[in-house]
Amino acid sequence: MAFFSGLLELLVIHNVLCVLCSSEQDVYYKYETVYVGTNETVELYCYRFDQSECAWRISKKALPSSKDSNATDKTYILYTDGHLLNPKLNNTNIDIIGGNNTGKCNLKIRRFTTVDEGSYTCKFWSRGLPFNLTIHQVIMKKGKKVVRGIEGKNLTIVCTVKSGRLAATLVLRTNGISTWKERTDCVTYSFIPTKKENMQSIVCSAYSTVLDNPLSFKVQLDIQYSPVVEITRRQTEHKLILICNPSGNPENYTFGNWEHWSEFKEHIQNLEGTPDGTLPLPKSTNNKWFPETDGIYKCKASNGIYGTNGHLYQIGTTLVHNKVPPIFVITNKPIQFGRYGQKMNLTVLLYNKYGTIQTTISKQNEPLHTETIQETIKTQDISHDVILTVSGIKITFQLTLDKIEDFTDYTIKACNEMGCNELTVKITPARLSNNIYDVTVMLFVSLVVIAVALVKAVWIVVLIVLAVVLAITVLTAFFTTIAY
Ligand SMILES: *[C@@H]1O[C@H](CO)[C@@H](O)[C@H](O)[C@H]1NC(C)=O
Ligand SMILES: *[C@@H]1O[C@H](CO)[C@@H](O)[C@H](O)[C@H]1NC(C)=O
Ligand SMILES: *[C@@H]1O[C@H](CO)[C@@H](O)[C@H](O)[C@H]1NC(C)=O
Ligand SMILES: *[C@@H]1O[C@H](CO)[C@@H](O)[C@H](O)[C@H]1NC(C)=O
Ligand SMILES: *[C@@H]1O[C@H](CO)[C@@H](O)[C@H](O)[C@H]1NC(C)=O
Ligand SMILES: *[C@@H]1O[C@H](CO)[C@@H](O)[C@H](O)[C@H]1NC(C)=O
Ligand SMILES: *[C@@H]1O[C@H](CO)[C@@H](O)[C@H](O)[C@H]1NC(C)=O
Ligand SMILES: *[C@@H]1O[C@H](CO)[C@@H](O)[C@H](O)[C@H]1NC(C)=O
Repeated sequence: MAFFSGLLELLVIHNVLCVLCSSEQDVYYKYETVYVGTNETVELYCYRFDQSECAWRISKKALPSSKDSNATDKTYILYTDGHLLNPKLNNTNIDIIGGNNTGKCNLKIRRFTTVDEGSYTCKFWSRGLPFNLTIHQVIMKKGKKVVRGIEGKNLTIVCTVKSGRLAATLVLRTNGISTWKERTDCVTYSFIPTKKENMQSIVCSAYSTVLDNPLSFKVQLDIQYSPVVEITRRQTEHKLILICNPSGNPENYTFGNWEHWSEFKEHIQNLEGTPDGTLPLPKSTNNKWFPETDGIYKCKASNGIYGTNGHLYQIGTTLVHNKVPPIFVITNKPIQFGRYGQKMNLTVLLYNKYGTIQTTISKQNEPLHTETIQETIKTQDISHDVILTVSGIKITFQLTLDKIEDFTDYTIKACNEMGCNELTVKITPARLSNNIYDVTVMLFVSLVVIAVALVKAVWIVVLIVLAVVLAITVLTAFFTTIAY
């Protein structure tokens, strides 16, 4: 029992090409409606005398699975490519009857159902549809088609299409910004990629008068580049953990040794981190000496790609400062010299990287209020047995040494938010050269000695004179008394 199924609009046209227009007698044009019953087989005829190729375009009225969907979803175009069925076609009930060199291009629909209702168009042209549109050197990466390049190295994208006598227009686009057009079977584009182009897409399209929609081939650029390295940090109770964070392509890194440098680019030591690029540093527990973990840390990472700087390993740096009280550096002088009766500058050198510094000076537990001057200087200290340049603060206390008691011990206390440290400086008379003390002091001491001796001598003379005078007086009086 054959049921009436529906309309089949059959349109067979000859492609409007001047080359073919000349052979008028061969043009075969037909527009008709075909009625087909359910489960019937229908064959739509299409024939051209010259050995040209053909395609069927099918515009169905409804999607097989969703008849109640939107109207926009109901029509779509399927086509056969040359005499081969479009491999994307899932309709196993369609066959092309004919051959490359026969001129025959019939479409056979078996087991016709309402799903097959629609408009069928047969088109001819001199040669095949553009096909095999390809971008060359495509590889698969994470399920995506990519073309691989390396930052800084000339990359050439090649797109080709097979298009017979009628060449297609090839258009190559990258992210819709730049376009290169060539009316040929091959288009190339050379450029020096940067990391910015990584993941950008490139589309090659083939336009042709015989195609309603252009063929397109889309790939993504996979631009490999050496990593940019940053160091992040994580704090734990007793440790500071430095984390090497490279970001490059591919994301597969090997890490070199860490390097520890002073702020003034002096190498202190190499350190081995973990294989995944972290470096745990103990927090400074000694608040008196230069914090040994202070300084610049460098982490080296590579993903196997040479950087534009020509290096395989790229470097990230970070500066580490422990939160410690001000440190009196080892270059401080615990004995300083002054001259009696003159002004002198008592100086101390501090390393302070945390908060503002406050200093006081006291003499035998008695605070002094003197003029102080602060200036930043470069000085030295020792870290890991290496003498380093460190940026320090020089504090100058201006003292006047006008008493002998001023030549004594002074205690300097320096504080920041983390606490305080103290240093005792002894002030002694200035020595000019090998054990010869300051002339002033020597002279003064000699004068005092001479003066004391003189005073003593004068007193003795006076006493003797007095004794003589007294004796003469007494004797005179005695003899006078006897005489009378
Ligand atoms: C069409 O064929 C299928 C399977 O061969 C069958 O189940 C169905 O009943 C047929 N429909 C009609 C209207 O003959
Ligand atoms: C109809 O189309 C709109 C927009 O394309 C879509 O959001 C909606 O889901 C469609 N409805 C059905 C039933 O498919
Ligand atoms: C064709 O069939 C395959 C597997 O059955 C399916 O994955 C694909 O989406 C189908 N294509 C169309 C256009 O329906
Ligand atoms: C038709 O031509 C295509 C490509 O030119 C070829 O692959 C195919 O084998 C040919 N078919 C026949 C039946 O000759
Ligand atoms: C399509 O292109 C690929 C790569 O260039 C080639 O290997 C293949 O043979 C081509 N196919 C046809 C039918 O020309
Ligand atoms: C890149 O390579 C292509 C082909 O090898 C060449 O034509 C082009 O001049 C090169 N471009 C640069 C900037 O070197
Ligand atoms: C990472 O690189 C190593 C050596 O270069 C290689 O053996 C390994 O397969 C790579 N791993 C990944 C996930 O790419
Ligand atoms: C102390 O230092 C100040 C400032 O640097 C300077 O002007 C002064 O001359 C110095 N005094 C002595 C005695 O060195």
